[in-house]
Amino acid sequence: MTVTVHSPATLSNLGCGFDVLGMALSQPYDIIRLTRTAQPGLVIRHLDDYDLPTDPARNVAGVALLALLAAVPETVGFEVEITKGIRPGSGIGSSSASAAGAVVGANALLNNRFNKLELVEFAMAGEALASGARHADNLAPAIFGGFTLVRALLPKLDIVALLPPPLWVAVVHPQITVRTADARAVLPATVPLALAVRQWANVGGLVAGLLTHDFELIGRALEDYIVEPARAALIPGLAEARARALAAGALGGGISGSGPSLFMLNADEATAHAVAAALGSVFQELGIDFNLHVGPVAAEGARVVEG
Ligand code: HSE
Repeated sequence: MTVTVHSPATLSNLGCGFDVLGMALSQPYDIIRLTRTAQPGLVIRHLDDYDLPTDPARNVAGVALLALLAAVPETVGFEVEITKGIRPGSGIGSSSASAAGAVVGANALLNNRFNKLELVEFAMAGEALASGARHADNLAPAIFGGFTLVRALLPKLDIVALLPPPLWVAVVHPQITVRTADARAVLPATVPLALAVRQWANVGGLVAGLLTHDFELIGRALEDYIVEPARAALIPGLAEARARALAAGALGGGISGSGPSLFMLNADEATAHAVAAALGSVFQELGIDFNLHVGPVAAEGARVVEG
């Protein structure tokens, strides 16, 4: 009655696709161990040093599991042990990974009665707690894997998932704090039509490039005309990091989710390592500590690895 789940970090937005596009990373990931109990309720423990809340109502995995339990008629509860491999607040889907991993593990302990769309719905309760907004652009890849488009949240969740080409991702996480709520507060309330046209042309181009494995099109389409300009001031070194990454051979990239991490997509592993070094060099010069992650896009989302 115990399972262990690996739940991946994810990129959201992917430049042009604010709140709708996402991609699963092969690393880092959270490790979530769930035990089904006969007594109702949740007990949450963290086996890491991040001091995250363990009260289920204040914990993203807890809130997601409470949403799932509300849809389960029998009396059941879970003990949950979370080991964060993904730093909270990094902008690579830390809260999504915990929420997604928790519901995927619970579902396995309930004979997989829920489908992936239902699991995203439950996990969105956790995302709303973390960022104040119900969005699924990190959760969709965290549960479906690969590349995802959240075509609609309403009237019913509609997710398009596809396996992208074997891209390699370089991520730099500068150790600065950018709260998602603050990064959303700087966004414009309205968008000029001409900018919106350019943006949705890029969304279509990016999806087409991923489907046809057209790496140059992917690179051209990654540009964000609306959200990144509004958030650029929150991330020192952004323009220089992009310039050095492109010079090192990246296809393109930008802010990962609401930041502060930056991501770059690359055609191969060697380029991804060179690009990561280029990204890191900018923050080294700025005197800002940083972490680097390099890995391929993950085909799978959160998955039971044991149990
Ligand atoms: N799409 C979201 C944003 C991701 O950019 O605000 C952050 O959770």
